[in-house]
Amino acid sequence: MGDLLEQADYGFDSLHYVALADTRFANYAKKELSKLPSNSITFQTHHIETWMFSGSSSIAEKDLSDVSRKFSFVDNILKLHSQVELNGDDYSSLEGAIAKVIKKEDSHSFSIEVKKIGFVSEKKAKDIEVILGLHMESLGIIPELKNPKRTILVALTKNIGFVCESSPSNHVDRFRQANASKYAAINRAEYKIIEAMQFFGINPTGYVLDIGAAPGGWTHCLSELGSKIVAIDYGLLFYDKFSNGKKILVLAEHPDEQTLVNATKNFDNITLAAFDSELKYSDFDIIHVRASNIPDVLQHIIKAIGKFGMLMIDINGSSTEGAHLADMSANFMKSGADLVLTVKLQNMAVMRHVSKAEEILSGKYNSVSVKKLPHNREEITLHAARD
Ligand SMILES: C[S@@+](CC[C@H](N)C(=O)[O-])C[C@H]1O[C@@H](n2cnc3c(N)ncnc32)[C@H](O)[C@@H]1O
Repeated sequence: MGDLLEQADYGFDSLHYVALADTRFANYAKKELSKLPSNSITFQTHHIETWMFSGSSSIAEKDLSDVSRKFSFVDNILKLHSQVELNGDDYSSLEGAIAKVIKKEDSHSFSIEVKKIGFVSEKKAKDIEVILGLHMESLGIIPELKNPKRTILVALTKNIGFVCESSPSNHVDRFRQANASKYAAINRAEYKIIEAMQFFGINPTGYVLDIGAAPGGWTHCLSELGSKIVAIDYGLLFYDKFSNGKKILVLAEHPDEQTLVNATKNFDNITLAAFDSELKYSDFDIIHVRASNIPDVLQHIIKAIGKFGMLMIDINGSSTEGAHLADMSANFMKSGADLVLTVKLQNMAVMRHVSKAEEILSGKYNSVSVKKLPHNREEITLHAARD
């Protein structure tokens, strides 16, 4: 089977690319892609969750990741090496194309990530990764799962396989790929906050306030990066996932409540206490607050630890509820502090949800920007700075 790309007439000086976007934002993504210099989208397909565009543009390869970072609704833009016809679960044409791409470079340190976009097979993407990896091994080019220098993303549509260049730090599905790395994420949400920090250029300083923290993905992520956190949620956190040595304080209205006692009793790094206790708050890496009177508790805590340098809100409430919480918490934030707010989209009126949230934030925050992060599901992420 031939390489379809080689036969296509794209003209010179064009970079072939594949762009992935959430189906719900496909029209916005297409508008953004149309801004690429001399862009021509030649192929598009869609699956329940993902739209895939393939096209060519005169953009330089080195500018590709910069450009994708500027787009709010495109999840990833990847350099397209090759595209081949598929024939059911016979991957031979694909294997040949992948081997060719890997052998072209001096370094053969690579991993393979598969994404199914309407490709019908009983095999899961992970199973296909294994089949392709084993085939590469049989050719003497051995995938490196822990620290690959490059990642080959293979996007499978109904009958075409696209072989693209990704990067090990930018997996299309980071949570699924995470078992290959040493980092034990609590949940997929952790990758949202990693992406948010990368996209919005956030470098947290001082304490971080995490509202809607359970089961603890964002708190875990920031804690592992070295921040101290106050985590607000009535739900419990996965306390066992935090590195040994992290000192955790759980502040509760009823610290003798049985579920709480049971969840924390096996950890000697956890202190369980009532709100009014006069503990030295700055001794703890994580303070988990299970409360209904949050403003009072926060007022009390910031007397000891100072105002927060970052606020993260990821509640499963309406699009305006999170913005109201940001507004109410503004007095606890330092000037210039970063706000990351997940806005749930109850329907497709994306910009209405965003502008409602913006309106609420406008009294106390500035420079609001928006990004549909690759790991956002039926939601979008806002970033702003405290006035
Ligand atoms: C999607 S989960 C958060 C996931 C979390 N960011 C993580 O990384 O694991 C939403 C959480 O928001 C909490 N929540 C909803 N409304 C809240 C509110 N008004 N105040 C605090 N927490 C709230 C829920 O209890 C739930 O645990």
